Amino acid sequence: MDILGIDIGGSGIKGAVVDAETGELLTKRRRVDTPEPSTPQAVADVVNGIVHHFNWGGPMGCTFPAVIRNGVICSAANVDSSWIGTDAPALFERTTGCPTSIINDADAAGIAEMVFGAGRDQPGVVLLLTLGTGIGSALFIDGHLAPNTEFGHIEIDGVNAESRAANSARKREDLNWEAWGSRLNRYFQTVEFLLSPDLFIIGGGVSKRGHKYIKYIDVRAPIVVAQMRNHAGLIGGAMAAHALIQGGADAELDPAVLYVPEYD
Ligand code: BGC
Repeated sequence: MDILGIDIGGSGIKGAVVDAETGELLTKRRRVDTPEPSTPQAVADVVNGIVHHFNWGGPMGCTFPAVIRNGVICSAANVDSSWIGTDAPALFERTTGCPTSIINDADAAGIAEMVFGAGRDQPGVVLLLTLGTGIGSALFIDGHLAPNTEFGHIEIDGVNAESRAANSARKREDLNWEAWGSRLNRYFQTVEFLLSPDLFIIGGGVSKRGHKYIKYIDVRAPIVVAQMRNHAGLIGGAMAAHALIQGGADAELDPAVLYVPEYD
């Protein structure tokens, strides 16, 4: 089934039509800067522009960088705080006319990687961490997603970890790879102590330059980069929409319904 995947981030909003059964992008990706301030209607208007760009009238699977429960945005670390309490599918459906589902951006990237990418057939505990404007996390146990984990926000030395270790901190503070790598090392070691994953997957745009910083991260579990790189989010957004459509009208917008092996 073809679905318009939309990956909403703190810096950019990306869209492409995706074959949700194969994870393939059927169009080129369209990227637009996230508006400032990133209020709900301003973001919905950008999403609507992407819908028009693709002349789309079908289902849309969005991702969003927040805790999401039944479509309602419950946190706002890197987006305007007026998002909290917003029913995102209702807003996007009103603005675009497209039936919409929404899922946390890192959870979406994780689903795509577990089914088609670096986490394929990986048993045990797999943790995908996206390094971007913030740090997103997606935790899988034998292919099951534990939705809405927020391991980017653990406190290390009294500081919210993503404010020091996200890719945005590297850029903002103009850190070289080694300096940033040593912050990532501290972060990954802390997360490993807390969760003992069997595998780490690094996602986000900077994952393609993993050879520059992964060598500074000294953890027991192997670290691999996301195979779908920066496309994982919008592919996973489309896959989540597809799973909900398949689940029928009774499926609540709860990412926990996504049992990854069903895609095999
Ligand atoms: C948000 C997460 C999100 C991550 C990556 C964090 O600041 O709290 O929900 O997954 O950024 O965008």
